[in-house]
Amino acid sequence: MAHGEDSATAAARGGLPRHVAIVMDGNGRWARRRGLPRSAGHRAGVQSVRCVVEASLRRGIEALTLFAFSSENWRRPRQEVGLLMELFLTTLQREVQRLHEQGVRLRFIGDRAAFAPKLRARIAEAEALTAGNATLHLNIAANYGGRWDIAQAARRIAEEAAAGRLDPVAVDADRFGRHLCLADLPEPDLLIRTGGEQRISNFLLWQIAYTELYFTDLLWPDFDERAYDEALAWYAGRERRFGALPSSAEGGRANDA
Ligand code: FPP
Repeated sequence: MAHGEDSATAAARGGLPRHVAIVMDGNGRWARRRGLPRSAGHRAGVQSVRCVVEASLRRGIEALTLFAFSSENWRRPRQEVGLLMELFLTTLQREVQRLHEQGVRLRFIGDRAAFAPKLRARIAEAEALTAGNATLHLNIAANYGGRWDIAQAARRIAEEAAAGRLDPVAVDADRFGRHLCLADLPEPDLLIRTGGEQRISNFLLWQIAYTELYFTDLLWPDFDERAYDEALAWYAGRERRFGALPSSAEGGRANDA
């Protein structure tokens, strides 16, 4: 449930999240278990990306945000980083027209300054082509970090204040949040992490304050439509309170968010 949506509206949506965020983990282990190079795991991971995009479109989910490459992933061997960049480029080239026809708006979040000019150009073209679409907002977090996001928002606010366009006293959570990535979308309702780890790994830190967290041991290339449906069914059974009392109990604890 996003800002401004009451629980009756959420119920009418059949407990479907408006915005799903995913940490796609486990490609390397998937490949190792098969005696394959890590690159094979990442390639198989692209199939799972396709699967969740298609499933999200069919189910009417409004936004899907995928963690494809964190700011920390540069620490991986140069060869693996190169392969991932190549995969982003080829996948973009191959898929963008079809995504556009399906009404997908594609956006990249993260610091793209470090990417090769060719990849930056393809990203800009894909974003421009799909800018008018709204069936599904597909956000790819690449060279993204939640702390980077918060820091870039703080820098922009400081610049506005230094230029005299903003009174520092007027800076509250709402105004701050407007400078973060994806500020125009509802905050994620559901965050899925595959691969067995139970941590956030510097993904959307601010935006997931009230997000339901779902962890599965499945490795990302094994995450198929059925696994996605299980996560969605789990979400549908959650009662979201946003710091309020449970709807059924009078005597709940007010701080129990
Ligand atoms: C984590 O698995 C996965 C990544 C760092 C890359 C994710 C990229 C893709 C799924 C493919 C391309 C995506 C798009 C959007 C085209 P890992 O390598 O950390 O796995 P491990 O923990 O088993 O080693």
